[in-house]
Amino acid sequence: MPPACDFVVFGGTGDLALRKLLPALYLRDLEGQLPDTTRVIGVSHSPLDDENYRSDVRRALLEHVPTGSFDEAAVDRLLARLHHVRLDFTDPADWHLLHGLLKRHDPGDANPVRVFYLAVSQSLFGTICQRLDELGVVDDHARVVMEKPIGRDLESAREVNDAVGAVFDETQIFRIDHYLGKESVQNLLVTRFANTFLEPVWNAHWIDHVQITVAESLGVGDRGGYYDTAGAMRDMVQNHLLQLLCLVAMEPPTVASREDVRDEKLKVLKALKPMNPDDVDRATVRGVYAQGLVDGAPVPSYADDVPASDGRTESYVALKAEVNNWRWKGVPFYLRTGKRMDRRVSEIVVVFKKPPHAMFPHSEGAHEPNRLHIHLQPDEGMRMHMTAKEPGPGGIRLRPVSLDLSYAATFDQRLPEAYERLLMNVIRGNPTLFMRRDEVEAAWTWVEPILHRWAASPDRPKKYAAGTTGPTAAATLLERDGRAWQESDQ
Ligand code: BG6
Repeated sequence: MPPACDFVVFGGTGDLALRKLLPALYLRDLEGQLPDTTRVIGVSHSPLDDENYRSDVRRALLEHVPTGSFDEAAVDRLLARLHHVRLDFTDPADWHLLHGLLKRHDPGDANPVRVFYLAVSQSLFGTICQRLDELGVVDDHARVVMEKPIGRDLESAREVNDAVGAVFDETQIFRIDHYLGKESVQNLLVTRFANTFLEPVWNAHWIDHVQITVAESLGVGDRGGYYDTAGAMRDMVQNHLLQLLCLVAMEPPTVASREDVRDEKLKVLKALKPMNPDDVDRATVRGVYAQGLVDGAPVPSYADDVPASDGRTESYVALKAEVNNWRWKGVPFYLRTGKRMDRRVSEIVVVFKKPPHAMFPHSEGAHEPNRLHIHLQPDEGMRMHMTAKEPGPGGIRLRPVSLDLSYAATFDQRLPEAYERLLMNVIRGNPTLFMRRDEVEAAWTWVEPILHRWAASPDRPKKYAAGTTGPTAAATLLERDGRAWQESDQ
């Protein structure tokens, strides 16, 4: 059982809290993983008392918890743990309310864990941490959780890290990248390192290239204010996509826990070949969605969604990255992510080289290279594409076939949401699946020259119709290398 805990969410009435954090805590509570004295404290500007807050959270749970998991008794149990504290983060006088509540934790729990989840604007991180320090509630059992992106470039990331690091030790800081909590992302590590058959071919000798796609069919919705200051590069590539790249490319850690995994990921980030301005022009593509049809329904353009935008924010990025080390020399990693694409699908495709010698020259049928598709969403699983002989007498006919692992078909159980795993890891104090400061800063170091080049360029992101696979320039990026984006096989 995890330790007793006060789980404090700054931004407790916000979208992230209501859509992800509270449903995740509810689902863990449903599984009996929250000790009785655990409390969840939402902190926000809203003038809500506990009862109003509980009604809002009940509605959110009804909407966001999978139908089969909504249990009235369990909902009541979570609601009974809930409190709301109204405070103006910048007004020192307001903080005594939170202090009073924290001090009232069940006296039976010696040193409860205190989690401070910062689901608010980063500009407030420093102030919040400072106030918590002044209140004397940051002890060895306290942890702070920061949402990505940390900063908007290297310098601002350092500032945020410094401000939080002035109060919390690095071992108490949990920088969330929720992709690291996804079941299929976890399985990527297990597939690579708990089996022996992949490792000997997992390198430049046998792998031609890797593709990582995170496509969303949704637009920016009501997050336009934030998104327009970020764009796809800061919102997705700097964190989620680079983290996925790290897990594909990293060396085997000694143990798959704590610092070992993070040390190996850091080495990959440091091995990413830096891009000079010419590289950026050649190896990156920016796009922004125009009006179009998603699932047959007309949807507005980015400019309609975010009227205040100056037209320079990208909702789509495709790029070619290279990992300059012994294992990966010469193997391109093509990354792409976009909003308002034709469908929601996240997939990693590892494309192997063709056999060195064609042994079936007179056979019919195409001899396609092997491909391993790792499905992250909407369904979890993997599919290995290979070639087999079509049964029958006469000559050899080659036929593409596949070996499948579908999580849903293999494991008859609900797969936990990424946040369920990550929040419990915070409470337990396990940092393996969180980004360390040096990782975040190494990622910015690689991303920053791309952002600078884009900012200096007179060009704007290329338009693509919503509901498509993105700008044609993204296809050209691979065609120039004699390759093509792989269709999703989900
Ligand atoms: C978030 C981004 O980190 O990830 C969002 O800020 C994006 O813009 C989301 O929509 C995608 O997450 P998922 O789990 O739905 O793929």
